[in-house]
Amino acid sequence: MNSRKPFFSKYAPPLNLKLIIYGMLLAFLLLTCLAVIWNKSYPSPPTLSTAALGRQQVEECRVPEYRRRLIPQLEPLISEEPLEIWEGLGKQEKNVKYLPSMIDLSSNARFIYIDLGARDYDSSIGSWFLKQYPKQNKTFEIYAVEADKAFHKQYESREGVTLLPYAAWVKNETVVFGSKPIIVKDKVWRMRPFGRIEGQTAEGDGLSAVTRVPAFDFVDWLKRTVRERDFVVVKMDVEGTEIRLVEELVERGAMCLIDELFMECHFDRYVKCCSGERINRFNYSYAQCYHLFLQLRNKGCAVHQWW
Ligand SMILES: *[C@@H]1O[C@H](CO)[C@@H](O)[C@H](O)[C@H]1NC(C)=O
Ligand SMILES: *[C@@H]1O[C@H](CO)[C@@H](O)[C@H](O)[C@H]1NC(C)=O
Ligand SMILES: *[C@@H]1O[C@H](CO)[C@@H](O)[C@H](O)[C@H]1NC(C)=O
Repeated sequence: MNSRKPFFSKYAPPLNLKLIIYGMLLAFLLLTCLAVIWNKSYPSPPTLSTAALGRQQVEECRVPEYRRRLIPQLEPLISEEPLEIWEGLGKQEKNVKYLPSMIDLSSNARFIYIDLGARDYDSSIGSWFLKQYPKQNKTFEIYAVEADKAFHKQYESREGVTLLPYAAWVKNETVVFGSKPIIVKDKVWRMRPFGRIEGQTAEGDGLSAVTRVPAFDFVDWLKRTVRERDFVVVKMDVEGTEIRLVEELVERGAMCLIDELFMECHFDRYVKCCSGERINRFNYSYAQCYHLFLQLRNKGCAVHQWW
């Protein structure tokens, strides 16, 4: 008697129908996988080149609670492009709200000042950091990061100042320093190479003077050199490469190690040499720079506009 035969077998579809169904299922799964892979390798196009700031952080980096609290108390960012010709920090300096004027530094372990693009000893370390920056009588370890050999001699016998004779960059490699000629109407200004020009990685491209300098992975160095409980101040003047550097600091979880950041964002600005004309040396507009500062503050970075 075969009435005990399982109920469903009576209704089981013929073998080739089964094959068709399995085949369709397989094809569906395969297409789903492909779609996932496709999306991964073709992410939506980034806005600006500050893509990293919009993304979820790739590496863990905790913003200390105190800093989030203080950010609204920093001087407001200047949203309007300055139309006058500015030389240096000048009259903006009096508006800067320095962190140590609002908090007590006694619980920090070490005090560190890093000057990226230090140039002359007196251009920012001597004249600004040592004289003006409120230090609550703490002694700061000072690192001067400067790739241009012309300035190295000044750092030879400075006590408490360590010279790192490299360009601050996102990997250890040799980079091109250049100087784009400034052309306004029929006049051409040529200068010695004084920094990297964003987007320019090789000689040529209209650069009037080039030289090669060693660059180091500043992100990696920072993570190995400072700890969360150190109080770290950074001045960044890296001639247009700041956007990429800041992106990687955020992406690789090192931005939180910096307590206070003074950043010059190089935008296409009016300059003194050329009777108030834009010289098209940098690609970023003032608005893009302003947006970058805003994003950084929203992420818990105590950043100041530096000029
Ligand atoms: C720093 O030291 C000087 C002299 O030793 C003292 O007069 C001053 O009050 C101190 N400042 C702070 C912020 O501790
Ligand atoms: C870069 O070079 C320094 C000095 O040689 C080295 O200590 C460091 O590990 C290098 N960093 C990377 C990411 O390779
Ligand atoms: C600036 O942007 C223009 C157009 O997008 C591009 O051709 C040029 O190479 C860029 N220059 C620099 C220095 O990045």
